[in-house]
Amino acid sequence: MEGIHVRNLLPLISSHPGGRSGLTCRYRCGDACFQEIPNTSDNEYAGDVIAGALSRRSMMRAAAVVTVAAAAGTAALAGPAAPQAEAAAPAGPGRTPNHPDKPSGAGARGLRFAPVAPNRNDKVTIPEGYEQNIVLRWGEPILRGAPAFDPDRQTAKAQAGQFGYNVDFLSLLPLRGERGRQVLVANHEYTDENLMFRGYDPANPTREQVEIAWAAHGLSVVVVQEEHRTGRLGAVGRHPLNRRLTATSEFQVTGPAAGSPLLRTSADPSGRKVLGTLNNCAGGTTPWGTTLHGEENFNQYFANGSSATDKRYGIGSSTTERKWERFDKRFDVAQEPNEPHRHGWVVELDPFDPDSTPRKRTALGRFKHEAAQPRLTSDGRPVVYMGDDERFDYFYKFVSSKRMKKGNSRAAREHNLTLLDEGTLYVAKLTGDSPAAEFDGTGKLPSDGEFDGSGVWIPLATDGVSHVPGMTAEEVYVFTRLAGDKVGATKMDRPEDVEPSPRTGRVYVALTNNTDRGKAGKPGADEANPRNLNKHGQILELAEHWDDPAGDGFAWRLFLVAGDPNDPSTYFAGFPKEKVSPISCPDNVAFDDHGNLWISTDGNQLGSHDGLFGVATQGELRGELKQFLTVPTGAETCGPVIQDRRVLVAVQHPGEVDGATVDKPASSWPDGPGKIVRPSVVAVWRKDGRDIGV
Ligand code: FEO
Ligand code: CA
Ligand code: CA
Ligand code: CA
Repeated sequence: MEGIHVRNLLPLISSHPGGRSGLTCRYRCGDACFQEIPNTSDNEYAGDVIAGALSRRSMMRAAAVVTVAAAAGTAALAGPAAPQAEAAAPAGPGRTPNHPDKPSGAGARGLRFAPVAPNRNDKVTIPEGYEQNIVLRWGEPILRGAPAFDPDRQTAKAQAGQFGYNVDFLSLLPLRGERGRQVLVANHEYTDENLMFRGYDPANPTREQVEIAWAAHGLSVVVVQEEHRTGRLGAVGRHPLNRRLTATSEFQVTGPAAGSPLLRTSADPSGRKVLGTLNNCAGGTTPWGTTLHGEENFNQYFANGSSATDKRYGIGSSTTERKWERFDKRFDVAQEPNEPHRHGWVVELDPFDPDSTPRKRTALGRFKHEAAQPRLTSDGRPVVYMGDDERFDYFYKFVSSKRMKKGNSRAAREHNLTLLDEGTLYVAKLTGDSPAAEFDGTGKLPSDGEFDGSGVWIPLATDGVSHVPGMTAEEVYVFTRLAGDKVGATKMDRPEDVEPSPRTGRVYVALTNNTDRGKAGKPGADEANPRNLNKHGQILELAEHWDDPAGDGFAWRLFLVAGDPNDPSTYFAGFPKEKVSPISCPDNVAFDDHGNLWISTDGNQLGSHDGLFGVATQGELRGELKQFLTVPTGAETCGPVIQDRRVLVAVQHPGEVDGATVDKPASSWPDGPGKIVRPSVVAVWRKDGRDIGV
């Protein structure tokens, strides 16, 4: 595997701390990396921002719960010399008997392909022997009556029946009774009007342009058809399950904060009915056949914020980039102060019921939700892991108090749609096991040879009862970041996607980067976030400290510390560094059926385009990381979904390079010169028809 390093590539010119173009920063995250860090708490939040009344009795009860939880966590972690807490991760660095890893030059099973070298090709570059097709492009008609895409004659009505813009999360669900078909569900995270509208004037968007953008946000459900014996996929237009949900579709608010005065607006005095879902980043697929969608950088759509809670969520105090507030007053916080409280949730969608109203699940808290990936406890209750993607913010989990019902009966389906409304919301606190003095911010391994330690899940609220002194339950759900501040959660380097391994139960948390770590006045390096000015990010591996993942303690260690393998601060689970691909800015993660973790990147800081990588998490090849593909100019790799026969990725924001417009494109992907750049979903499979990487 020589020749896969990056030294021959010139550095990319990116003055942006998140590693992206200025255009991407502006339209995707509202320039989050240029704003002040919203988390200015010393984890003893000043508390003056919440006018919550909490009785002395409930305060004592809450304090007692926190204490018990902390004690339980300590006890669980104090076992005799079990620093890695393999309790929930029986495989360790060994082999699973029915799935032997064959240590060979060819790589772990599922990862036996020739790695793609770092490059800046304006196309999707895949390994030798593989084939690809475009499954869906922005603007492809998917609903009955929707017209063919015509970028120069686009209308909001047309867009509402067409595939939306910029896909992040992707899910593929089996479709019973229709041979060779699956249901694809996609998040349309955000729009870039400069690349959508010829001659776009950012200072003066038209109503039609704004309404097209509303219709290009949201979610899509599209039935896709497999080609016999290959991995090729194509959309089935006008299938009865096909669906678009946009920034103006109706969503129902459920769970303990539904109906709260904090969620009521002049248009919705019930506090239970919200129009739209915005900035859906990653998500998850539930074992009961629904999909979860994280509402991430929702703050950027709201103008004229003023309260301290607005500030903690990054809502600006003046006009917005897209100027939606000119066209709908709900985007003007001065006029509708509670409207932003109705965004920043996890949405649950039943893609098999095209008439259902998707739900915003308040029990899972409100923050910049990157993703929400569930697993089941041994007694059948869902546990949902969730990251809050902001520099120095936290990661969370929700544990349902109800058990999933198996089967596809109407009663089971109805019951399962209530699982995410009752349970406990927790935030993570991590403690390293090496002396703090060993972390100087360079990323040097501590003397015990590993970045590792223990953690506790601190409960924030259960079924409408707060565990946070000084905050009511409604406040905990609506201002969850402040609850995390109060209980002393650990400030992380941008927690993005989170994925439990279906084989070992270990949970993987992608921490994309944090170029503010260690700057003056900002938190410095610690064992879980060991590099100052962290450009490349890391992946944390977490093992719950219980047979049943509803307990309160966990063990953790860093699985990867990303970057160029020649950089001494990188770490690949102890695997020889000269044998791995360079990687930067891990973001979305997914597992294949072999137990390999697949990682897509956002903001490569090594001079290459973004990519998709696979890495073994078990066996002798644990830590062997290989690049499977790269994406075109300006793009971020999203999705991904890894099936036996195919890899599915979303190519998000291709051509989004500073100064690019429809008339001055920076990319000609996917349709070649003279054609508008279109964010699209791509399938990759093996030419010989065999499974991926075997
Ligand atoms: Fe939408 Fe955190 O990336
Ligand atoms: Ca250590
Ligand atoms: Ca992301
Ligand atoms: Ca994922």
